[in-house]
Amino acid sequence: MTPDLFVNVDHIATLRQARRGLSPCPLQAAKIVLEAGAKGITVHLREDRRHIQDRDVLALIQAHPQQITLEMAPTAEMLGIALKLKPKQVTLVPELRRELTTESGLNLLAQTEELKAHTARLREAGIGVSLFLDPDPRQLELLSVIEPTAVELHTGKFASDFEKPEAREKALLELSVAGKLIQDHKLKLNAGHGLDALNLPALLGSVEGIAELHIGFALVARAVFVGLREATQETLRSMTAVEVTL
Ligand code: PXP
Repeated sequence: MTPDLFVNVDHIATLRQARRGLSPCPLQAAKIVLEAGAKGITVHLREDRRHIQDRDVLALIQAHPQQITLEMAPTAEMLGIALKLKPKQVTLVPELRRELTTESGLNLLAQTEELKAHTARLREAGIGVSLFLDPDPRQLELLSVIEPTAVELHTGKFASDFEKPEAREKALLELSVAGKLIQDHKLKLNAGHGLDALNLPALLGSVEGIAELHIGFALVARAVFVGLREATQETLRSMTAVEVTL
């Protein structure tokens, strides 16, 4: 079965925050990608609010209550926000203030009790809980303790090694073994990070049973080039439609 595409609209908000205005609006982006066939929207509300703002998460959940995945660090502040806004799914991710993007999966071994408590609180509120994990068997051993509803496998290593055949095959094998283990636990299997139209066929050819793909940067970057011609022509057309008002 083809996985559901969840489009991460953080980078639309990154562009908006460059001018601190209203445009481009992540809610409008969500409408377009859902109309185009995506099944859901993903946003990461970071502690430093560098892109997505609290008001974006609220507006997205109000407009699409069954389709929003909220990525967040397992902190008391974020737990409070999630319990108030009740997205359909939360993906717990590690967060380093100075990182450019999420660099690795969670360390379940170091945070077992904290993550177990967070997961339980979110699940009691009816929110699905996905853990963002590297395909590391030592981490996956703790799934039966923490009891999430899903795991999102971090595909960043596969994506960055995509051009190196040996390293790519190794990464794919690790992902496929981890994917089977996750499904043996009867958990939903999600995947994301660094994915694009070039590397997706290899991933989906090797890792079976992926339910959701969470994709952001490459899709938004591609949209810039797919749309630049039309934006230029639209501007040129507006220059020939001069209105004399004085
Ligand atoms: N999944 C998670 C948990 C992430 O943190 C990110 C990055 O925000 C993504 C998916 C999307 O990754 P990318 O922007 O590289 O497609």
